[in-house]
Amino acid sequence: MEKKYLSDIHLEDYAHEYEDRKTTYRDMVFIGGRERISLNGEWNYAVDQYDTCLRQKWFKERYTDGRGFTLPVDYSFDEWPVMELPCCWNTFAKEYLLYEGPMVFTRRFGCDARGSGRVFLRIGAASMLCRVFVNGTYVGMHRGASTPFFFDITGLLQDENRILICVDSTRRPEQVPTENTDWFNYGGIFRDIELIRVPEIYIKSFHISLVPDGCYDKLAVKIEASAAGSAIVRIPELGIEEKVPVTGGKGEAIINVKPELWSPEDPHLYDVTAEFGDDHVSDRVGFRELRVRGRDVLLNGKSILLKGISMHEESVPNGRGLTDKERIENIRLAKELGCNFIRAAHYPHHERLSQLADELGIMLWEEIPVYWAIRFEREETYDDAHNQFAELIERDYNRASVIIWSVGNENADTDSRLSFMKRLADYAHETDPTRAVSAACLVDEAENRIADRLEESLDIIGVNEYCGWYSPDFERLPALMKNSNPDKPVIITEFGADAMRGVTGDPERKGTEEYQAGVYEKQLETLTKIDYIKGISPWILYDFRCPRRTSSIQKYYNRKGLLDETKTYRKPAFYVLQRYYREVWK
Ligand code: GCU
Repeated sequence: MEKKYLSDIHLEDYAHEYEDRKTTYRDMVFIGGRERISLNGEWNYAVDQYDTCLRQKWFKERYTDGRGFTLPVDYSFDEWPVMELPCCWNTFAKEYLLYEGPMVFTRRFGCDARGSGRVFLRIGAASMLCRVFVNGTYVGMHRGASTPFFFDITGLLQDENRILICVDSTRRPEQVPTENTDWFNYGGIFRDIELIRVPEIYIKSFHISLVPDGCYDKLAVKIEASAAGSAIVRIPELGIEEKVPVTGGKGEAIINVKPELWSPEDPHLYDVTAEFGDDHVSDRVGFRELRVRGRDVLLNGKSILLKGISMHEESVPNGRGLTDKERIENIRLAKELGCNFIRAAHYPHHERLSQLADELGIMLWEEIPVYWAIRFEREETYDDAHNQFAELIERDYNRASVIIWSVGNENADTDSRLSFMKRLADYAHETDPTRAVSAACLVDEAENRIADRLEESLDIIGVNEYCGWYSPDFERLPALMKNSNPDKPVIITEFGADAMRGVTGDPERKGTEEYQAGVYEKQLETLTKIDYIKGISPWILYDFRCPRRTSSIQKYYNRKGLLDETKTYRKPAFYVLQRYYREVWK
């Protein structure tokens, strides 16, 4: 007998219909230089712990049964309280600090629906699972907390519109990352929400970079468009005006020119434009060459040392939703340390970081959150990781400061993990010849040596080691270095020690500022003498929220920062690293 469901209260498979229409990197649109209509600002919201919006289909706004009977509804969108988006709800209100789950956001907006061309909704990032509805219609979904995504909403627009977004920050084992990480799970829409209007025929993707052949005299242009035609690429400062034929939606060209090269010391950027029919986009691009030769990392043909620091995207007042002022201060602090390199761990940071890094001159390692025990055997999980990676590469392709793509962090060396991460590394190599591919690998503890099967697929080997903290004896470090014989450059992507601001006294006691400074001294004294180590990015620039860290010196923070979480107090280890970067490690 057909089971009779009383509306939604018995229907357990309610989410199934919101799993399709998944937007991916293939739906992205190039946004440089475009008119962007911001939807940032006041949104009405409700905490929806039981996902009732999806169960009862609130987005349909059915207030009567069509026969005059007024339906009892459990929502009143315009009377809900207001949240200023973009933001993390965890830092918006005390009562939401530890909230994880669904929250519903909605607002009205006007739009010239009869305007020509197409209108895309772009969301810079929403954590973790996001479903979008416009004027009562399900538009689509996106999974992943750190990359931009687009929906073509042209056909749904009226002069007056309602948009409703369901964001679910629940951690799940099959997601990327899983339910277990060493950072705080911020929820919300914490990057820009905007409408992008483009002509009927428009540029989807625009890549321009220096050809990495050691000659520094050619630029490669790649354009994807919504139809065939011919694009014109201009770089006025170089007197360039180049025609790029686009057939079957794709066009490529090589431009012969010797630009001034970008470097952290001389972060020279060029204004670049591309025209395609009625469409016109622009970008500010630096041209540089990053190559690996033997055990060397070469920037513009010169062997360099990557004097780095790792960094989460976080501030006490704003969580993951940093302001530009906070991002600029983070870069300034890294430069004060003597860094030319930042490891943006463990997920794609806001695109403003790489844009600011281009302008201010600092190199970046960017990473997708393939972190710890991902469900490597699950194909849908691979699709999720691959899509986030492809969205990151598409978003930051023109950023000179980004020199390394990382396919993950600290993953046990199993067969399924090897296959999963090799596929990601191969994808990066096929898609982007202008960057090195790496990952933060684990040490082979049994043999105390750098040995991970994934290394074969990497250009640079990242290694996390915690001699002096998680593994007690420092003697393991020189032995680790001696036992290892990598044939490519190594970056020590993490070492460090917790220290609570103001806990001082015994240099032998873990948790004191002195103990942390001692770890840095001993680590750097060894690492800076190893010729195959071409980069160091200690863990970490500043303390950060972490639900796993509950001891009396941590109090729900990971305290391995060289600064405290306010980013105003420099622990003694800050000055140890600064001395090595400025005076010792050359
Ligand atoms: C690991 C991990 C970090 C973590 C750090 C720590 O290496 O990559 O995400 O925060 O160690 O234990 O503090």
